Amino acid sequence: MTVETLEPALLASPEFHAAGDRHRLWRRMRRDMPVYWHPPAELPGFWSVTRYDDVRAVYGDPAKFSSADGVLLRPASLGNDPGGGRTLALTDPPRHRKLRSLIAARFNARAVRSMQGVLRAQARAAVTAAIERGSCDFAQDVAARLSISTICRIMGMPEGDFESVYRWTHEAFKAQKSLTTYLPIMNYFIDLMCQRKGVAPTDDVAGLLAHGAVDGTPLTEEEILLNFENLVGATENAGLSMATGMLALLEHPDQWQRLREDRRLIPSAIEELLRWASSATHSMRTTTGPHVLGGQSIAAGDRVVLWLPSANRDESAFPDPDRFDLGRQRNRHVALGAGEHACIGGSLARLQLGALLPELLDTAREIELAGPVIPVRSIAVSGPAQLPVRIMAR
Ligand code: HEM
Repeated sequence: MTVETLEPALLASPEFHAAGDRHRLWRRMRRDMPVYWHPPAELPGFWSVTRYDDVRAVYGDPAKFSSADGVLLRPASLGNDPGGGRTLALTDPPRHRKLRSLIAARFNARAVRSMQGVLRAQARAAVTAAIERGSCDFAQDVAARLSISTICRIMGMPEGDFESVYRWTHEAFKAQKSLTTYLPIMNYFIDLMCQRKGVAPTDDVAGLLAHGAVDGTPLTEEEILLNFENLVGATENAGLSMATGMLALLEHPDQWQRLREDRRLIPSAIEELLRWASSATHSMRTTTGPHVLGGQSIAAGDRVVLWLPSANRDESAFPDPDRFDLGRQRNRHVALGAGEHACIGGSLARLQLGALLPELLDTAREIELAGPVIPVRSIAVSGPAQLPVRIMAR
């Protein structure tokens, strides 16, 4: 694809996100058209925002940029997102903060740190199994399973159910279906909710939501189920960022070697892997009034789409942004969003990478690609759907 044919309209194409030169297009948009209007087509009309400072400005002002009409672009034919005004991600202040506070303590750094041992053991089991088999699909066998079983644990699901939840979410993600339209997982969520409602409140996330109330009004069954779905669905990102991280390390053997030689780099490596992967491709907001952004006048009710991988390669925010540098300092990326709706699973995502990296460093002598990498085809998330690798034991 030549530079001339790289038009902003391509941002609406899942194929372009999977296989096109997105960063080349975004570089041009940041320079020449940082806030760009896409007229309505299959998707409703929307503004593309590609610069880091503009992305932070939108994230930082939830009163002017609302999440209640949806935070992901969806075809106009599908109508409004059913979670609008009801899930954590799709609620505006002041209700948002009250809803978030029902479960926030289960996701903060301290709570998540208490899972360190379990996560390390899980990562070890997945890597050891991969070594014994000779090769594995790192994206599914290691990354996605690790991320799904972690959220299952926090939700309070029985360990015997983790594999089924993995299978159902995998089937739904593969078919690009929202979990809300995928019956096996919704039936499972209904059973889980009914079970928790029938017993005294438990302090796992399923129990906290099932018995949760905002301003004295209990959450409706629909709100509980949509929030289960929001939390489990959002973990697709964690699996994709671990798989993209693995691929980046395979493509930059010098950086892998650097980490081998100096494990003190692990904290900065985690941030660089998150920035580089930027597995959440966009966040959307709807303006509550007229607004000027990046010199463009935006009307009330317009959709504004923040392209996070673009912001994370903005040359005004990151020196040498296209360099993968595990020692990068002052890495204030927006891979996990920012502001009021900053990712509630951020500590979890970091801890998962922090469990996986030392496990790979301890166990693997060498890791190599063992087949073609198949990317997800989506405008909402990016990364490898399949990543065949061979892991050789030390
Ligand atoms: C590397 C992995 C992850 C990435 C890249 C990521 C990315 C993001 C981003 C960009 C947002 C902001 C969305 C917006 O403001 O429109 C967000 C919010 C959110 N994330 Fe994550 N996420 C990750 C892992 C997780 C995990 C493991 C969970 C599991 C609980 C999770 C649950 C959520 C939820 C519920 C929100 C909405 C928070 C709120 O509105 O208060 N995420 N995430």
